[in-house]
Amino acid sequence: MTDRSILDRAAQDILQANDRGGYTVPNGQVYPFQWNWDSAFTALGFATFDRDRAWTEIETLFSAQWDDGFMAHIVFWRDDEGYFPGPGVWGTNKKIATSGITQPPVAASVVRWLYESAVTEDEKARAAALYPKLAAWHDWFEDVRDPDNKGLVVSVHPWESGRDNSPEWDEPAAAVDISGVEPYVRRDTSHLDASMRPTKLDYDRYLAMVQYGRDCGWDHKKIATEGPFRVVDVSMTMILIRANRDLLALAEALGHDADAEKLRARIANAEKGVAWLWNDEVGAYCSRDMITGKSSGMITSASFLGFYAGVVSTSQRSLLIGHLERIGRKISYMVPSLDPDHKEFDPIRYWRGPCWAVVNFLVATGLANEGLNDWAERVRLDTGALIEKTGFYEAFCPVTGRGTGGGDFTWTAAMWLHWAGRTGADQAQ
Ligand code: DGY
Repeated sequence: MTDRSILDRAAQDILQANDRGGYTVPNGQVYPFQWNWDSAFTALGFATFDRDRAWTEIETLFSAQWDDGFMAHIVFWRDDEGYFPGPGVWGTNKKIATSGITQPPVAASVVRWLYESAVTEDEKARAAALYPKLAAWHDWFEDVRDPDNKGLVVSVHPWESGRDNSPEWDEPAAAVDISGVEPYVRRDTSHLDASMRPTKLDYDRYLAMVQYGRDCGWDHKKIATEGPFRVVDVSMTMILIRANRDLLALAEALGHDADAEKLRARIANAEKGVAWLWNDEVGAYCSRDMITGKSSGMITSASFLGFYAGVVSTSQRSLLIGHLERIGRKISYMVPSLDPDHKEFDPIRYWRGPCWAVVNFLVATGLANEGLNDWAERVRLDTGALIEKTGFYEAFCPVTGRGTGGGDFTWTAAMWLHWAGRTGADQAQ
């Protein structure tokens, strides 16, 4: 067996070991439930050896959709004492216990990919059955998270971004009142090195935001217009634009003409709205606080998702490539979650420096779509090299390649199978 096929096997084993029957957990110890965007990426991994199981992953996730189209970031299919905050803390009072916040909507893009690579009619029927659920979630984003119809999307908790303690959230989260936070015991730091995790202050703020949501009965409209933390996250925004384009392709293929019309208008509005995130001073897309209007001014791995969304102009393109070149000279492995020239850069702490295979995949997909193939390949090869050198960690130090966060991580294994571990010949298929 070649090194590559040994790693393929190991990656499949991780997906199977983390399979809880219809859904996978990101990591059995640290994250013992079904996470929303993790599952979307996981489906791409399953599709390389078990297409039926790939569809099931997404179908299980959508079986926990709320009646108004909302999709939670965690589905608590069964309780687990090893995780905090569990279903009792969220208090969403749904038949299927979930959290009360959402996560970047990668699912429509994955379903489009599965649909277009479908080998049987049954697979196409499964896409058709999922379509209205995807459309309902995207409508929810427009109705609830874009109250002024500006083509932007408000995020109400750092966990919604998936980039939990990016320094982009430090200032907006500092304004959150933590005086009423009930006593709690963290579980993440019993499984992982505390120097890699968010701080106690970060956690107090996370909990204050959860309590706010719970205390207003998860009234999502209220949270999005009056809540204590409201930011326009560059990753959520770019991923949603791309997801709307992919949903549009599905609507066209499945004959949902009225939806297609609506989606075209939605995409055009978002293409205009996203200009609000471009920061002229730093020459990059950055997240912006909706409450104060202030841009973070930080270049993160998410700044490069403009390519993925298809919204980068010619002048922006050269500025963004300039940043990639500068960053690429500073560290050994692309793409660090924070600019290494930023004072908050910390190569091992969660979302303040390490590289994530899933973000790399989205960034590289966008770069390749724009014809920036050398850059797309650099990101893919760096990701593969990190996994070969270190294993299937949650994230990696961009300087040394050391693994950070949990090991045997489902989405890293999925990204190896679908993308980073594939040869040029495989990719052409
Ligand atoms: C956690 O608990 O660290 C998660 O990232 C929340 O989604």
